[in-house]
Amino acid sequence: MKIVVTAGPTREYLDPVRFLSNPSTGKMGFQVAAAAARRGHDVLLIAGPVQLETPKGVKRINVVSAREMLDAALDSLVLFSDLSREQKTVFISTAAVADWRPAECASSKLKKHQMSGTLKLVRNPDILKTIAKTPHLRKLPSLRLVGFAAETDDVLSEAARKCREKGLSFIVANDVSEAGSGFGTDTNRVTFVFPDGETRPLPQMSKRRVAGAIIREVENL
Ligand code: CTP
Repeated sequence: MKIVVTAGPTREYLDPVRFLSNPSTGKMGFQVAAAAARRGHDVLLIAGPVQLETPKGVKRINVVSAREMLDAALDSLVLFSDLSREQKTVFISTAAVADWRPAECASSKLKKHQMSGTLKLVRNPDILKTIAKTPHLRKLPSLRLVGFAAETDDVLSEAARKCREKGLSFIVANDVSEAGSGFGTDTNRVTFVFPDGETRPLPQMSKRRVAGAIIREVENL
């Protein structure tokens, strides 16, 4: 299979030295890419700004903003789907994409007297939703989308909503407020949530083992 994985945070700059972002370290996504490569798949990793080495056998594109991540994802999926219409292509969106960006990015560092105390924001595109409605990709029977839902409240119902709204084959739900789960940890406790409402909870385990379970599930899609 061809597998495209996004990982890490995105950064949304308001001037050359300031940005909006989140604490994602990319560990989960890099483990997913590594697990897919170990199982012999052709893997492209689209990484936001993280301090991690590229897993063995994985191709990598570095991006900074949500819009760059979206462009890289669309380009690679269109290319993969043109190369092979029969081979399954799976897009696994583990990235913690910033939902908003500053309305403007200044080309020089802003001085404090130039800032008003209010930051105007505009919405970023939703990468999964954009892929799901891109005409060239939408009708491909061989394309599957998998998401992640990092939640602090109503974890399973929120994950189920996102699974349906984003047209996903399944979503990996995880409670980021729980000890040993979420941003920066080496372990995770996740539940696979399917569009028909089925849920499959996994015990807490290393992100490496969670990644292996995700790839085995992806192979069955
Ligand atoms: N995602 C995406 N593009 C975005 C935001 C999120 O593709 N602009 C993807 C994430 O990579 C993840 C899934 O959508 O696979 C769910 O992300 P999450 O941040 O949990 O949800 P949101 O869609 O941002 O929804 P909400 O703000 O309501 O929690």
